[in-house]
Amino acid sequence: MSAIPQKATGEIHIRGGVRLQGKVKVQGSKNAALPILAATILAEGESFLKDCPKISDVYRMLRLLQSLGGHVCWEGEGVCVSTGSITTRDMPADAITGMRSSLCLLGALLARCGSIVMEYPGGCVIGKRPIDLHLRALEQMGVCFSEEGDRICGRAPEGLRGAEIHLAMPSVGATENILLAAVTARGCTRIEGAAREPEVEALCRYLNACGARIDGVGTSCLEIQGVRRLHGAAYRIPADRIVAGTYLYAALGTRGCVLLEQAPSQHMHGVIRMAERMGALCQVTGEGLYVQSLGELTAPGMVRTGVYPGFPTDMQSVVLAVSTMAEGETRIEELIFENRFRVAGPLRQMGAEIRQTGPHNLWVGGGARLRGQRVEACELRGGAALVVAGLMAEGETVVTGCEYIERGYENICKDLRELGARIYSV
Ligand code: EPZ
Repeated sequence: MSAIPQKATGEIHIRGGVRLQGKVKVQGSKNAALPILAATILAEGESFLKDCPKISDVYRMLRLLQSLGGHVCWEGEGVCVSTGSITTRDMPADAITGMRSSLCLLGALLARCGSIVMEYPGGCVIGKRPIDLHLRALEQMGVCFSEEGDRICGRAPEGLRGAEIHLAMPSVGATENILLAAVTARGCTRIEGAAREPEVEALCRYLNACGARIDGVGTSCLEIQGVRRLHGAAYRIPADRIVAGTYLYAALGTRGCVLLEQAPSQHMHGVIRMAERMGALCQVTGEGLYVQSLGELTAPGMVRTGVYPGFPTDMQSVVLAVSTMAEGETRIEELIFENRFRVAGPLRQMGAEIRQTGPHNLWVGGGARLRGQRVEACELRGGAALVVAGLMAEGETVVTGCEYIERGYENICKDLRELGARIYSV
């Protein structure tokens, strides 16, 4: 596999006040690519994933696949993966610790190898990130889990069997792990209350391209008829709706006018409608999504995150950043994760008027004139929000902790420079 380019993981410097203009191609989706890379474990032969994003979470997943015996090679606009010799015997230490960030390997490795050892995934900055729904569902499919210290071991001595699974909440990751366990299980699996996120749909389409039999794709009721084997497939990773949304709101916040090439507009209705409420003109064209600020930046009033097709939690920090400068008050309700307001602190440092009014609620005064500051990113989407705030602020903003942003954005500085921003990483 070609050497993983080591990017500077230091700081991003931004001189704000430039109206973004021009066009930029939207990268492939992180949250579609990760479960699909895990799914290659189930396919005999090679898969080619076009537009697989070159981001650190993908590099980490590829290293995990290699540490388990897989072969990986970047070629042209995508990555080739073949996993014929994957085994979980003698799992290397970094595979066990790395599993935390690649929980979607759980279902695939249990299906392929019948066993898995992984460190108990702890929480992260945005929430506790429990995996109870994953484990309970896999137990219904014949997996026995045991705890050994801070590790969990899963074994399916008699292989995986189809089951009738009702998810108490439409967890994206749990839906993906059940799909990965079910496609080669004995018999039929039915998932009631499945997540409907576009990334789950992409996983289903890749698996069906490999010979799986999944019905109800895109709905909350999925039916999977287990098959004996899957073959590799060529598949194009869909564009990243959160990266597209980030640049959409950056254009709105800087009063700009941009074309987001290949933006997945069909999966961005909530994001587009909110931007139109705030003063954007959005038009879907043959090339992608055209966004133009109509001049005034108006507060959205109420932003409530929800499961798809609701307003995506991954866009909450970005819309918060833009709302700080919009005319009027905004109330934000974060209903997916329990600690996703960390970015409010650095935004206050820049002059924003934000108050936390409840465990899931923020009040934003609006009308602020943000001033450039040195601010620290502590997680992926909050980091992207600080970059957007820097584009809108007067003076220079330095964003540290850019390794978090590189988890999900191939090259946010290059993309924004193509739209005229004065931004570079050091
Ligand atoms: C996926 O996380 C995404 N990550 C997240 O994107 C995204 O925010 C999230 O879905 C919601 O859309 C990837 O796809 C890699 P969930 P996931 O299971 O699967 C609770 C980003 O920035 N829950 O739908 O972990 C959980 O605590 C990341 O790209 C349980 O209680 O999300 C959370 O409150 C951040 N028990 C809620 O469900 C469980 O067993 C949603 O979690 C599982 C989840």
